[in-house]
Amino acid sequence: MTSARGPIAVLHGVNLDQLGRRDPLHYGTLTLAELEERIAGFAGELGLEASFFHTNHEGEFVEHLHAQRGRAAGLIVNPGAWTHYSYAIRDALESVAAPAVEVHLSDVDTREPWRRMSVIRELCIGRVAGRGADGYRDALAMLKEELIK
Ligand code: DQA
Repeated sequence: MTSARGPIAVLHGVNLDQLGRRDPLHYGTLTLAELEERIAGFAGELGLEASFFHTNHEGEFVEHLHAQRGRAAGLIVNPGAWTHYSYAIRDALESVAAPAVEVHLSDVDTREPWRRMSVIRELCIGRVAGRGADGYRDALAMLKEELIK
């Protein structure tokens, strides 16, 4: 369904490659590969196509965002800890000019106070936190709504 306008680009930031080894109470037990498989399944159910990217390097995350301009129909971003302070990622996200949803596996608003801050929130059409892998389905559904407007 999004093929004419490009896929939904799903970007995973710093430390998300450690899923499966991180605290399961916050992050669940899926590895990143398993999470991406789950997200691809959700996308298929919604008639969307997803592409995936992960890096632990902030500049690579920024460059991947730049590359999505005119390519991705929408974005799902979980920048990990960069969410809370990276104005470089914030500015790169703004330059993509595609609808974006911010996703966090854990419930960032009920954890340490510094996790409540998001420098990308104001640029996103929606935000999902604390729903684990299902949060990505919610995000895909939000983008689908936005794209058929
Ligand atoms: C996270 C929440 C962040 O605070 C944390 O630094 C992460 C993952 C999440 O998905 O819950 O690495 O973005």
